[in-house]
Amino acid sequence: MSRVSLATSLLMVLAASEALAQETYRPPTPLGLDEYFAIPEENPLTQQKVALGKRLFFDPLVSSDRSRACASCHRPSLAFSDSVPVSAGVGGSQETRNTPSILNRAYGQSLFWDGRAPSLEGAVLQPIQGPREMNLPLPELLARLAADSGYRREFSGAFAEGPTGSSLAQALASYVRSLRAGNAPVDRYLFGDSTALTGEARAGMRLFAGKANCIACHAGPNFTDERFHNTGVTWGSADLGRYGVTGREEDKGKFKTPSLRNVALTAPYMHDGTLATLEQVVDFYDRGAGPNPHLDEEIKPLNLTPQERHRLLAFLGSLTGEIPRD
Ligand code: HEC
Ligand code: HEC
Repeated sequence: MSRVSLATSLLMVLAASEALAQETYRPPTPLGLDEYFAIPEENPLTQQKVALGKRLFFDPLVSSDRSRACASCHRPSLAFSDSVPVSAGVGGSQETRNTPSILNRAYGQSLFWDGRAPSLEGAVLQPIQGPREMNLPLPELLARLAADSGYRREFSGAFAEGPTGSSLAQALASYVRSLRAGNAPVDRYLFGDSTALTGEARAGMRLFAGKANCIACHAGPNFTDERFHNTGVTWGSADLGRYGVTGREEDKGKFKTPSLRNVALTAPYMHDGTLATLEQVVDFYDRGAGPNPHLDEEIKPLNLTPQERHRLLAFLGSLTGEIPRD
């Protein structure tokens, strides 16, 4: 190789790596949330990936008949959850579990009600291929994306490669990771604005952390311990939750504690959407949830007065924060 062409190719390599050396970033932390959340080393957060993931999230191209987008079930106006007990997938199919909010999942330690995915990267392709969701084989989606010049450009801008299974998962995971919501009345109160909560909600907060014992599981800035508990919701149904992942007897009927942030927006409730309102949820806990041989030991009948139930509901209502709309 001549000296000139060696220099030119070196320059070209440098220029290419320069173009790809995008700035990694951490979006500003909404009030009340932890500053820190884990970002996998192999998928640093960049604005290009988040923008691409967002475009994919709202695009029905990711479903077999092009009728459903991620956002069809994870609706931004409902804190990225759905308003029905179980969402509709393609071709009249139905989910078997309730669509959870996917806000603040950057803090998640495992994904899905049964925790079967250890990371967002490992979770986001499941709904695309799931027969009850988008029912689209991955190779077909990759072919659709490769045939679209806009997507081709965005993929090569965000990654060193075009659309592949891994770049697709990384882009979607980056977008979901960027979706954080805080700055709820409870946060403003705890960070010094004594007028942010009504007296009723303040009394509800004391119940939440005291007599009603909700904090035993709905703990920390995201109101979840990220662990699995049996509260006996629909005990006896075919869905045994965590047991399906571990096969351990003691995991029968355990589901992941959901975050309670924005819970007023995410009805209906529980892994199967069987409780329609927060009133019903509070009544459920008040009577000692769903008794069964594996019921969590933190669950006991609460004997709340009507006034206490009211206060607890007022507190749950104060957990609604600023929702990212896109
Ligand atoms: C047909 C409705 C539907 C569509 C479409 C859908 N989801 Fe979901 N999503 C669900 C349901 C239901 C669950 C819970 C499933 C479970 O726990 O087994 C879920 C769970 C998740 C979770 C885990 C949340 C948690 O708390 O652990 C993530 C992340 C997620 N979806 C992202 C996506 C992305 C990204 C897309 C688009 C590629 C998508 N979803 C499309 C219904 C849907
Ligand atoms: C032993 C742990 C534990 C305790 C104590 C507990 N929860 Fe839960 N909570 C869970 C689990 C696990 C789920 C999901 C259960 C399921 O769907 O099968 C859940 C679900 C919920 C939901 C539904 C959220 C959604 O998005 O569907 C609400 C609301 C809720 N809990 C509020 C409360 C309140 C209020 C209290 C106190 C009265 C409380 N919880 C006490 C573990 C607990």
